[in-house]
Amino acid sequence: MKPTERMEKIVSLCKRRGFIFQSSEIYGGINGFWDYGPLGAELKRNVKELWWKSMTKMREDVVGLDASIIMHPAIWKASGHCDTFADPMVDCLLTKKRLRADQIEPQSGVAYFWSGAKDEVSGKEVCEPFSALLAPGKPAESARKVATQFYSQRGLQNVVLLGERTEKVENSTKYNPENGALLTEPRMFNLMFKSHAGPVESEENAVYLRPETAQAIFVQFKNVLETSRQKVPFGIAQIGKAFRNEINPRNYTFRSREFEQMELEFFIKPDEVVEKQCGSVASLPESGAPTDPPQANWGWEVWHGYWVEQRMRWYESIGLTRDTLEQYWQKKEELAHYARATVDILYKFPFGTQELEGIAARGNFDLTQHQTHSGKSMEYFDQEATAKYIPHVIEPSAGVDRLLLALICNAYAEEEVVDEKGKAEVRTVMRFHPRVAPIKVGIFPLLKNKPVLVEKALAVRDLLRPFMNVFYDDAGAIGRRYRRQDEAGTPFGVTIDFDTIGENGPEMEGTVTLRHRDSMQQERVKISDLLSILLPQVQ
Ligand code: GAP
Repeated sequence: MKPTERMEKIVSLCKRRGFIFQSSEIYGGINGFWDYGPLGAELKRNVKELWWKSMTKMREDVVGLDASIIMHPAIWKASGHCDTFADPMVDCLLTKKRLRADQIEPQSGVAYFWSGAKDEVSGKEVCEPFSALLAPGKPAESARKVATQFYSQRGLQNVVLLGERTEKVENSTKYNPENGALLTEPRMFNLMFKSHAGPVESEENAVYLRPETAQAIFVQFKNVLETSRQKVPFGIAQIGKAFRNEINPRNYTFRSREFEQMELEFFIKPDEVVEKQCGSVASLPESGAPTDPPQANWGWEVWHGYWVEQRMRWYESIGLTRDTLEQYWQKKEELAHYARATVDILYKFPFGTQELEGIAARGNFDLTQHQTHSGKSMEYFDQEATAKYIPHVIEPSAGVDRLLLALICNAYAEEEVVDEKGKAEVRTVMRFHPRVAPIKVGIFPLLKNKPVLVEKALAVRDLLRPFMNVFYDDAGAIGRRYRRQDEAGTPFGVTIDFDTIGENGPEMEGTVTLRHRDSMQQERVKISDLLSILLPQVQ
């Protein structure tokens, strides 16, 4: 299947089965905003729970935070977002479409220039110059047509183009690749959404929707430190919404304007302090990655390598195998000025291999900035090292929505199977890892008009549902019910039949059929064993 076709099928399944809907759909939608339907909401909740569990509950050295979305605007001045969180943007002079200047594919061809145009009938003149790029092999008339449309928009009806000249151009990014029309010069466009706190819409009351969750962690560093009894090295984790007024939201939910992040700021000792305390700083092993338990002589480089490996292992634990992921170690010239190293974890999406998470070694840039701008000390007194310092930080920062999209793309499969009547059919199945699957078990009474079967099936449902998300389905042929749960990605199905109620002999009484989604294998198990079989697989 071609990647575009695969992506179309995924988008269609997401809508049809209630994973993802376009936001405000009945009003025509709103670009860059998405809603999660019943299955998507469960999937998202599971992913966030698993991240939280692995980052905080399963560790001694990380605690959580849940901060407000709107914070003091001085934070964004200190972090650099007010001044530098911007993309270069250009507008198409013909359609007014806004594009990111750095994402325009270079084009070659013949550029047509006009000094202006006049109306053949009224004689009215427009002296504004215009240009259009003619791609190789296209007739000159198509460039003139674009120019005619441009001047028509400026009030001319019977356009006569004036002062035409041409020039060969190579690898130019000055023209709209969709129609050849000239673009405006790039202007920087800040990606933060602005609003006002309070009734007065003045600059003094201007506030921003946070473009990342990280800054709240830095500004609450001291409060968390004092209340949690943690010692450096330790981390603060947060999951929450972030907002970026992206110029070109694209690739479905991949680049959205409202999204969620799962961020950890892990505070470590500066290397000089580690050296003073331990005599030397451990270096990154040439092969293999540093793993638990962390050691006292780890400096930033080993901590950074450690977190990259931890994050890779976590992705594996939720079903993204290493061969679906890639690591991209940013080159020196690509690093932000404060970053010592950044590794992007990429997933092989059908539309290309793209970033899921960035793991940056940010030095002590953020805490230092907030100390300078707020006038409040961010220093930490390290009793073991008898040293005072501003901690350095390693930041694994992941996007929830991107990860959901990766899990959905990864799960989608079509396969040819034979139905119960021996007919070949295509089965669409979402092969989610049981830990992230929105529904863990489908419960099916074989017949809905047999009260004894229904009663037993409801009892099985009630047995399991305090522990996992179950779906009770008594409608239609059993094969159809299995297929519906295959599409939802439900890893297990439990069927309550006449054996269960002992109609075919006492030896089968109290047993059910347990169906496995991926292999479609069925086994007979006791109802009393169901929880102990299923729970370890879905937790
Ligand atoms: N605090 C660091 C930070 O925010 P980032 O690389 O800008 O770093 C981290 O964002 C992660 O947030 C990305 O790897 C991505 O998963 C997610 N993310 C960023 N912009 C996004 C967008 N417009 N739509 C969806 N997810 C986005």
